[in-house]
Amino acid sequence: MKSYNANRRDFLKNVAQFAGVATLGAYMPYPLFAQDLKQISKKGAKMQTLTLNNGVKMPILGLGTYSLTGKAGQKAMSEAIEVGYRLFDSAQMYNNEAELGAAINAAVKGGIKREEFFIQTKLLDSLLIHMPYSQSKAMYRAMESFYKQGILRVIGISNFGAKAYSEFVKSCEVIPAINQCETHLLLQQKPLREAMKSKKTLLQSWSPFIAGKGSILENPTLKSIAQKYNKTPAQVVLRFLIEQGISVIPKTSKRARMQENLNVFDFSLSAQDMQILKGFDTNKSAFSWTNN
Ligand SMILES: NC(=O)c1ccc[n+]([C@@H]2O[C@H](COP(=O)([O-])OP(=O)(O)OC[C@H]3O[C@@H](n4cnc5c(N)ncnc54)[C@H](OP(=O)(O)O)[C@@H]3O)[C@@H](O)[C@H]2O)c1
Repeated sequence: MKSYNANRRDFLKNVAQFAGVATLGAYMPYPLFAQDLKQISKKGAKMQTLTLNNGVKMPILGLGTYSLTGKAGQKAMSEAIEVGYRLFDSAQMYNNEAELGAAINAAVKGGIKREEFFIQTKLLDSLLIHMPYSQSKAMYRAMESFYKQGILRVIGISNFGAKAYSEFVKSCEVIPAINQCETHLLLQQKPLREAMKSKKTLLQSWSPFIAGKGSILENPTLKSIAQKYNKTPAQVVLRFLIEQGISVIPKTSKRARMQENLNVFDFSLSAQDMQILKGFDTNKSAFSWTNN
């Protein structure tokens, strides 16, 4: 078995073929417009892109890769690329960077441009500080330096609630482009979104399906809304978040669900249904370990 460092070296070798420098452009306010929709498969699946606060464009929807490890994990990531995913969320602690690097390298060899990918690991194209550690400010200063040198396209944070975010940005030279936080029907992060609004930091939802906890996708109200649109509860949840300009990274190891989770750009929810879904918010975390 390869050592951890060897795996990480492989990952870097595989994905480091493109060090993009951010092209500065106008910030695109939400809601996103039709021209941000791009056809991503012959079958007609579409993908919406959004523009971050530094002008970099990113797909609004990506694949969460927590627990996708080993050969099966790499196969799942390659399948995701085949069905149209280009944004991938990983982390050192997911122990799957080598697999992700290999899947991307194979795709690049197969003709997909490296520039199409957006590798978000708490490393590389987009580097996020995983949570508000005591050393966060020092870590972020190092990231700002890499960002200024053009080594990183995007820098951001993760698991910073409203208070931690507001405190943190006071000392930032480069405002975080992304804050990846637990966000789903039961925790809609309204205070955090309010805190981030003026700085245009994007909220990215982790665990949009609450990682299966509490069988949220079996909720009868959600199911009946989904039926109306001829969509699944999972698609309605993703659409609900996307319509509010929130990026999503649902995880699945199953090809059919990868496609299902991508097919959310051909319908929109009525104002009334958005209101019903907003009513699910309890403003409480479903996980015991978060600060959210
Ligand atoms: N920054 C952080 O601290 C942090 C923390 C947690 C997670 N994350 C990131 O966020 C990603 C997503 O979160 P998550 O993995 O915790 O949970 P999630 O995406 O909310 O849910 C994943 C679960 O939902 C199932 N699922 C996926 N698509 C489905 C569908 N269409 N219908 C029914 N079930 C479906 C999956 O099962 P199958 O695989 O069997 O389809 C899996 O059990 C992670 O993979 C990771 O990349 C980041």
